[in-house]
Amino acid sequence: MKLAIISLGGKSSLNILKEAKKYFEVADHINIKEITVQGEAKELVINHNGKPIDNYDCVYLRGSFRYALLQRAISMALEGKTYLPLRPESFTLGHDKLLTLLALQRNNVSIPTTYLAATTDTAKKVLEEVNYPIILKIPAGTQGKGVMFAETFESAKTILDTLEVVKQTYIIQEYIDTNTTDVRAIVAGKKVIASMRRKGAAREMRANIHMGGKGKAYELSYDVEQMAIQSAKAIDADICAVDILESKNKAAVIEVNLSPGLEGITEATDKNVARKIAKFLADETKKRHEGKKGNEVNQMMKNLDIEKVEDQEIITNLNIKAGIIKLPEMVTKITGFTPDDELSMNISKGHLEIKKYEIVKEDKKRR
Ligand SMILES: Nc1ncnc2c1ncn2[C@@H]1O[C@H](COP(=O)(O)OP(=O)(O)O)[C@@H](O)[C@H]1O
Ligand SMILES: [Mg+2]
Repeated sequence: MKLAIISLGGKSSLNILKEAKKYFEVADHINIKEITVQGEAKELVINHNGKPIDNYDCVYLRGSFRYALLQRAISMALEGKTYLPLRPESFTLGHDKLLTLLALQRNNVSIPTTYLAATTDTAKKVLEEVNYPIILKIPAGTQGKGVMFAETFESAKTILDTLEVVKQTYIIQEYIDTNTTDVRAIVAGKKVIASMRRKGAAREMRANIHMGGKGKAYELSYDVEQMAIQSAKAIDADICAVDILESKNKAAVIEVNLSPGLEGITEATDKNVARKIAKFLADETKKRHEGKKGNEVNQMMKNLDIEKVEDQEIITNLNIKAGIIKLPEMVTKITGFTPDDELSMNISKGHLEIKKYEIVKEDKKRR
């Protein structure tokens, strides 16, 4: 299996790469700054220093919001060919706090009340109605740098006028009192692989580690854990960090981070988060390989002469959706089962056998 991490080459990306060498035969780093995406009539080609990149089984794209468009283009070119833990939609939604919140809301994840106004005058009308303090935020800020805090209507108004002068889009957001703490969860697939609670530094309103916050390992409640997993799903990401504000009476997700730094959370939790991510990438890539094999088996089954099949051992993977097993159509054809048949199932761990329930034979046996 071959992996490429396309990133800016930050410490966390390189740590994941180092760990990935234990699970992948090839694990390359490609600098996102050296990439061009070439659109042709029939295909999208990704070039690295002018030459098309190799075929990889997994491509993990990291890097800041500044590369959102390029990340989206690269993932569009690779979609369907390569396992991508982050898809085109992840980059569109995940790098923009407002779009993230809208996706979360649509997926029933609790968010702070958030406003987007068309003009400064309309925004000021919103500010007349809200409770204080209030948060103002730019959609692409990170490390706490795009978050503004206003204690009164008067100060909020001055911020709005300044944002208008610099032509900066912003959102207005309900302030959730958490005593300057937030919770960060790293999600990989359907699991939270590490979580911590950060406490902001003295004389600070933001809990970010870059703003002097300190992280401590923190076990999530079941509900908050599900909230984090659901948030990743809402932006179509298999791997991301989710920031959550937990107050006395509610928990709300404020943002996701597609390329989270791992130093802080590794130190706080004493877990090898980079290794967990690398292993997740390998497991998912392997599953896809096996899935492809499964498809080959399905194709092979389609080519079988049903009449001649007597006792066939089929090696395949199962299509399980919402806990329900769906077997390939050929299985129905070969077995000749109909919806009216009564079936007897012999089930134990790792074993399933389905037979027609034949009343006569059973009765004979009993006699
Ligand atoms: N609605 C809010 N209520 C209270 N504090 C907030 C709110 N939004 C953000 N903060 C504080 O600011 C920090 C940074 O906000 P966040 O939206 O995560 O942006 P960033 O991408 O800069 O980390 C949070 O960790 C939290 O401490
Ligand atoms: Mg944050």
